[in-house]
Amino acid sequence: MARFLVALGALCAAAAGASAFAHADGASSTLGAAAQVVPNSFILEVDASAATLAKRGLTPFAALSRTLAAVEHSGYSHTVRERFESIPDVFHGASIQVADGVSIEDLQKIEGVKRVWPIRKYQLPRDPVDSISDYTFQPVASSLVARSKITISASGQVSKKRASTLPPASAYRGSTFYPHVQTNINLLHNAGYLGQGVKIAVFDGGLDYTNPILGGCFGEGCHISFGYDFVGDDYDGDNSPTPSDDPFATCTTHGTHITGIIGALANEYGVVGAAPMATLGHYRVAGCNDFSADDIIVAAMLRALAEDVDVINISLGTPVGFLNNSVTQIVAEYLASRGVHVVASAGNDRTEGLFFSNAPAAGFSSTGVGATDVVNLPAYNALVAGRDPIPYTSPTPFALPGQYTLYFTSTSQTPANDACTALPSSTPDLTNRVVVVRRGGCDFTVKQKNVGAAGGRVVLIANTQGSLTIPQLNVGTSGLTAVASIRYEDGVKLLEYYNASPNGQILTFPSGPLVPNVRETVSGGTIAYYSNFGPTNDLYLYPSLVAPGTDIVSTVPGGLGIMRGTSQSAPLLAGAYALILAARRSENLTPTQLRGIFQNSAKFVPNAVGSSALETVMLQGAGEIDVNRAFAARTLFSPSAIQLNDTANYRQPQILTLENRNPYAVTYTFSASYAQNIVTYNDGASNQIIPSTVPDESNYKVVRTTFSPRELTIPAGATGTVSIRMVAPGFSPADVDRFPLFSGFVNVRGQSVINKRFQTFNVPYFGLGARMVDMPVLDTTDVALGPRLPFIAVGEDILAESAIVIARNDPAVVYFRLAAGTRRLSVDYVSASLDYDSTIPSVTNPTARMSKLAKRATPALYADVPTVGALFRPDYFPPRDNLVRGPFGYSDYELPLNGTFTENGQTTTLPNGESYRVLIRALKITADPTLSSSYESWLSPPFSFSG
Ligand SMILES: *[C@@H]1O[C@H](CO)[C@@H](O)[C@H](O)[C@H]1NC(C)=O
Ligand SMILES: *[C@@H]1O[C@H](CO)[C@@H](O)[C@H](O)[C@H]1NC(C)=O
Ligand SMILES: *[C@@H]1O[C@H](CO)[C@@H](O)[C@H](O)[C@H]1NC(C)=O
Ligand SMILES: *[C@@H]1O[C@H](CO)[C@@H](O)[C@H](O)[C@H]1NC(C)=O
Repeated sequence: MARFLVALGALCAAAAGASAFAHADGASSTLGAAAQVVPNSFILEVDASAATLAKRGLTPFAALSRTLAAVEHSGYSHTVRERFESIPDVFHGASIQVADGVSIEDLQKIEGVKRVWPIRKYQLPRDPVDSISDYTFQPVASSLVARSKITISASGQVSKKRASTLPPASAYRGSTFYPHVQTNINLLHNAGYLGQGVKIAVFDGGLDYTNPILGGCFGEGCHISFGYDFVGDDYDGDNSPTPSDDPFATCTTHGTHITGIIGALANEYGVVGAAPMATLGHYRVAGCNDFSADDIIVAAMLRALAEDVDVINISLGTPVGFLNNSVTQIVAEYLASRGVHVVASAGNDRTEGLFFSNAPAAGFSSTGVGATDVVNLPAYNALVAGRDPIPYTSPTPFALPGQYTLYFTSTSQTPANDACTALPSSTPDLTNRVVVVRRGGCDFTVKQKNVGAAGGRVVLIANTQGSLTIPQLNVGTSGLTAVASIRYEDGVKLLEYYNASPNGQILTFPSGPLVPNVRETVSGGTIAYYSNFGPTNDLYLYPSLVAPGTDIVSTVPGGLGIMRGTSQSAPLLAGAYALILAARRSENLTPTQLRGIFQNSAKFVPNAVGSSALETVMLQGAGEIDVNRAFAARTLFSPSAIQLNDTANYRQPQILTLENRNPYAVTYTFSASYAQNIVTYNDGASNQIIPSTVPDESNYKVVRTTFSPRELTIPAGATGTVSIRMVAPGFSPADVDRFPLFSGFVNVRGQSVINKRFQTFNVPYFGLGARMVDMPVLDTTDVALGPRLPFIAVGEDILAESAIVIARNDPAVVYFRLAAGTRRLSVDYVSASLDYDSTIPSVTNPTARMSKLAKRATPALYADVPTVGALFRPDYFPPRDNLVRGPFGYSDYELPLNGTFTENGQTTTLPNGESYRVLIRALKITADPTLSSSYESWLSPPFSFSG
């Protein structure tokens, strides 16, 4: 056996709290990225198709009861978690909990069962990875409450049940709320389109509707007029939910913030919702620790359908990789077929690299939303007597009475470590001064404490050149009254004033609305550093679109606060959908039509501020939403995105259908533009099979495009087609090995034949310059754990070739990871003498190619490989493992090997002394699951059991 003590350091560093060896006693196992399933629990869908029901002479409800009785009758005693009985009839079934060892296959055999899924757990999106080391984000709610700055309306304490009078449409005219200016939502508001008559349900962790900006009450007649709590505070995904009629919650901030992005009522801060006159509701699907599960989400989706909801926005996600895989993806499709628009955030895991799609954001008909950085910052003005005001970024104005003079802790323009140590005793009385401190050298909290300790009350932290402006700071325990940040250029200006006349500057902090046009010059308008990469493993576009998601001010329990993430961009889009649905009501737009209208009227996102190069479609999807263009877009494209697929399945020509909904004929002309290429593996898959966390964007390759016809005139109300031939760029073998994705836009100009007015549209395209079937699936590197994967270890010892005896009470552990998603994974005990020629050598350590078993004959069919028993055979398509920061930290599979397994409800213990191996098989992405040659595989060294 090879020892791998050296690896331990690497392991602890990489494993972020989930040390592989914590599990080496066999007490528990870890099961990869999305395998947080509720144990022994399944969702059954019953066959409630009209034909089957007629044949069986049953109603859908009776069919469900019959089927559950049949489950019991087949010997699988169970408890029902949730019943799904939908009207209209889209999905009938139940989630049930059964005894150990009952498998999906067992349940699938029961009469009346159509399909069975495991129940996955979900977590509300986490705050994005922080790229700024000294950023100290504290809970907005508590800081606001502590500062009690928010007395939003004169109504004071609002009773939970009292209906409020809502502001009229005119209250939204002339808004300059920065995310709305960026997306032209304000133009629709000016025209009186505010989402009237559209019903939106937010799925989240509960909300504080007593916040006056959300209307102050709940229920009919209130701004938040409908909803339900499916879970209760203590729900954690595994335990029993305690539902109630009231979605109120203040234990998390997320749901209140998202609701405000859609529905914030007009107020003196200038923070308004995207569709503030829509009918707004909240389904609470996560408890205070932010966990939910598939069956809760399905129940909420079906309730949304029953309550005639038009748009649902789902704030949870779990990695999936493929379309049509998880039950929430499939129910989302059912809902879409009934006209419900499902909007979900794309995820905050850009650092995981390409091919990282989440459910239910990834869907044929749902909209997955990525995030951009805001072009303008949330800021209020500090007035400087006799000069231009200086904007400071903060969720609310300081609203401090009195006048302040300036003080700089350093009069140099570029001090190092400004205010990182105690201020000198020569520091003047700071009580009535605004202390300006420059960023850098230590945490903001250290600077704040030092100023507070010297008697300071108000601090402005000036950014350094090129640094991201911090939109929200908290006074914490510093003793300060107020703290905010200012832009670099404003710090420079203030210091000039100060140096000219140290005591001559008078500053005041009046209350008042957000000030417009405070530019974010570092990354404003580009893709947020956290927003997920697509595409899906089946090469569908992901995300669908992007919208502003960084530094968004919205409601929090008790006030206003700033949050960021794709959780913030998705509700903005949900609100934008409501505006267009209301404004174009007579068209009865379907979910795919509405998504297409937004996609094809979206704005290009550049790869950097001021750059003319376009960001890859794998990050921007169809681009950033422009609601005004979506309102005006009367040409519908099908498909709305051109998905060229990989080199093995390259699809061309592509036929694009245009539907002219204008009351006049339009002549369309076509051209193509290019976005950045991006590669999945910087060094090539033969060297480094884990997708790059910083994909290389430098590699430009151009697609040659021809259109036939090149110009097309379509009469009013008619459709026409154009055939598009796109010659994929020629990639060198080294480039192919890096799995390059090329992308861009087909640009369409449509000109009216009567008045020469025109509109432009963009249809995104992308393709892979390699074959998905070649994408490595099993991780064989040492990147994650230290030793090369896969391997079996007893304690810290890795099995080598010689047969060993595993003591059952000190079990070995099988370690492996998925470097890519797969549609089938199986881990089995097999006889040591099995004939199988695995793709990965049995002994992977200390070098990659220690030895390969003598060439053996592998049965041609997957199903013909004789196995002794299953260690792990998931019932879903396992996504690729997290390397950087999964919902549960870094992820891998660690399966204890004790010789006992359960199959078909039967527990089997392998006899002592017999010799076995473990066989791992993972299906290559587009390969035929029936063939052995379609799998990457690893056959372990032999072992036997004792004890
Ligand atoms: C998605 O899955 C459902 C259920 O398996 C199936 O009926 C449907 O055809 C699938 N849709 C697509 C587009 O593959
Ligand atoms: C909308 O969906 C996104 C992504 O799933 C989520 O983060 C956000 O909380 C949701 N907003 C609403 C209104 O549900
Ligand atoms: C790409 O091709 C694969 C293999 O045929 C298929 O499964 C997948 O659905 C295709 N993707 C798209 C977007 O057409
Ligand atoms: C053996 O491992 C299985 C999981 O593979 C586990 O369910 C079982 O409890 C373990 N048995 C013992 C005796 O540790």
